[in-house]
Amino acid sequence: MKEVKLGVVGVGGRGIIGSFAHKPKDGVRVVAGADVNLEAFKKFKEQLGGDEIFETDDYRKLLKMEEIDAVFITSPDFLHEEQGIAALEAGKAVYLEKPMAISIEGCDRLMETAYKTGSKLYLGHNMRHMPVIIKMKEIIDSGIIGKIQAVWCRHFIGYGGDAYFKDWHSEQKYCNGLLLQKGAHDIDVIHWLTNGYTKSVVGMGMLSIYDKCERRSADTRGDASWHDENWPPLSQKGISPIVDVEDHNMIMMQLENGIQANYMQCHYTPDSERNYTFIGTKGRIENIGNEDECEVHIWNQRGPRKTPDIIHKLKPVAGSHGGADPSIVNSFVDFVRGEADAKISPVAARNSVAVGVMGHKSMRSGGNLQTIPSVPQHLIDYFENGQIK
Ligand SMILES: NC(=O)c1ccc[n+]([C@@H]2O[C@H](COP(=O)([O-])OP(=O)(O)OC[C@H]3O[C@@H](n4cnc5c(N)ncnc54)[C@H](O)[C@@H]3O)[C@@H](O)[C@H]2O)c1
Repeated sequence: MKEVKLGVVGVGGRGIIGSFAHKPKDGVRVVAGADVNLEAFKKFKEQLGGDEIFETDDYRKLLKMEEIDAVFITSPDFLHEEQGIAALEAGKAVYLEKPMAISIEGCDRLMETAYKTGSKLYLGHNMRHMPVIIKMKEIIDSGIIGKIQAVWCRHFIGYGGDAYFKDWHSEQKYCNGLLLQKGAHDIDVIHWLTNGYTKSVVGMGMLSIYDKCERRSADTRGDASWHDENWPPLSQKGISPIVDVEDHNMIMMQLENGIQANYMQCHYTPDSERNYTFIGTKGRIENIGNEDECEVHIWNQRGPRKTPDIIHKLKPVAGSHGGADPSIVNSFVDFVRGEADAKISPVAARNSVAVGVMGHKSMRSGGNLQTIPSVPQHLIDYFENGQIK
């Protein structure tokens, strides 16, 4: 079998997932990386076990390498559209991190480019590979809690002040907002598990904590590393000079299949968890924990009692994000080899961005109901058909 040669754009931070794919003995090799911060290559090469790669600070040079079959794009959100389109036009298969882009139009341009060029497009929604999400999907699909009517998701982000208010994440021009940045995952999970997309959304959000913390100067580099001792949130230091994203986000979604859902995200809780409740016509499920040891509780009998009617206990799976990262990377390599379909359609990724964009629009304009623009039919058909015209 021909060796699959890979490039990684944005080798720092999330670029680590490129190294999960690097398995020369199995015919998959990372041969190049691009990053504007050349210091990031040191750690990345350690992650590759010391193997040498072509290094550049200009991603276009990497895309010119004919030998490269596929690229991971793990740069900040505002670059996904430009770099994703350039990679598709260069004929590379693309693993594009979530969120697909920071505007609906940007997502649509990416999908049009994939359609026009025929280059393969795969979206990095790794939560679709998380055991607890897969378990909840299995339970819902089994019918044990009847037909889903309502979904609630509470998202506690204990590391919010560390990770999202000290670097590019703190500005709308780089990520649009954190409802979109983080919530793209959860909105997609809600769409996937309920088998429907949102048709309209209303939102409320505010910035009430991190605008009051000590700032770094504009000429100091932001340090977004996590430290449990940064507590309570108002004691955070080194916050970005510009913060114009919300630290509390709430949206309510009307899905086209009649289901109603909400998603609530807070960046100053002491703990971190995504807690979903799916309520059907015959009961409800709820996850307790979303990585490592976690449980899915099923309540499907009426009456007072202290424990759920059924408890599914999930054992930890090796690998980051509850084993989801190695799993999604393997799935992408299979996709590049033509051995598997994309686990998430670009249409689904675009629709999660669309809810984030319109949710932010609603919360920034007095909570008005916003309608989600639909995806052009030829793109729906193309991606439903496995990216074949
Ligand atoms: N799916 C997940 O679980 C998950 C987790 C973390 C991050 N992400 C996504 O990964 C992306 C990166 O996030 P991060 O936290 O690693 O950010 P980061 O800022 O820590 O790292 C981004 C890297 O891209 C580099 N970069 C910046 N501009 C560049 C350019 N023009 N060309 C090449 N490289 C450039 C930076 O120097 C840095 O090394 C984001 O889109 C984020 O949403 C996804």
